[in-house]
Amino acid sequence: MSELLLQIDKTKLPKHIAIILDGNGRWAKNRLMPRTYGHLKGIETLGKLVKASKELGIKNLTVYAFSTENINRPISEVEFLMNEFLKFYREKFRKLVNDKINVRVIGETINLSKEVVDAIKDINDVPFNYDYFTFTICFNYGSQQEIAHATKEISKLVKMGRINVNDIDEKLINSYLYTKDLEPLDLVIRTSGECRLSNFLLWQLSYAELYFTDVYFPDFKEEELYKAIINYQNRNRRFGKLGEEK
Ligand code: IPE
Ligand code: IPE
Ligand code: MG
Repeated sequence: MSELLLQIDKTKLPKHIAIILDGNGRWAKNRLMPRTYGHLKGIETLGKLVKASKELGIKNLTVYAFSTENINRPISEVEFLMNEFLKFYREKFRKLVNDKINVRVIGETINLSKEVVDAIKDINDVPFNYDYFTFTICFNYGSQQEIAHATKEISKLVKMGRINVNDIDEKLINSYLYTKDLEPLDLVIRTSGECRLSNFLLWQLSYAELYFTDVYFPDFKEEELYKAIINYQNRNRRFGKLGEEK
């Protein structure tokens, strides 16, 4: 068994880990390969992380796979990523469901083809089981767009007289976010050395621990995940109170 895995305290696991999977292109460039090769390797890594997270007892793994801004990349790269998503839907999604995993896809449908939108609908139509591990793919996702969407939905309720303006609080807003069924976010990981959030889960990460690593995503395999969790377990989360001294 891995040395690092043994160091993880199973009683203090983060319930919800989110990863900004970044650096596929640079990983490939370093090997004089096309960016698409980096994406393929990244997808392989992702499969390992889903398995490792579930086995460890993490409740939710959420990944940023395609941002609303990524649509502005060259059309050939966008098409490649859309096709890989469809491939995941056709070849892997059912197996995950059979393995008792909730699979969810969150984000905007604007700019997506009917084929991709139908696949997302089919994935999200599988009933959610709160006892299961949940793997959420943020696809064509933008946090500001998500908050704008929640605001519109809540405004409609006010307009219809179903709620009062004073009923709007953090809990209500949470319940209109795409992440409503997920645990509060504990740990956000970004690979590839970039220290920014790029429009990812901006509301949800209010008290999450942030972990930035220089490792490019294709190399962020099980051992790197364990390192991030150990690092997380050595943090003193205070939530505004006076925490225990370390
Ligand atoms: C992350 O890798 C995957 C996506 C954003 C789709 P990148 O494609 O951003 O790789 P770099 O950052 O250019 O190396
Ligand atoms: C963020 O990565 C989006 C995803 C990982 C899907 P980017 O590579 O698109 O982010 P920036 O452009 O470097 O901020
Ligand atoms: Mg990038």
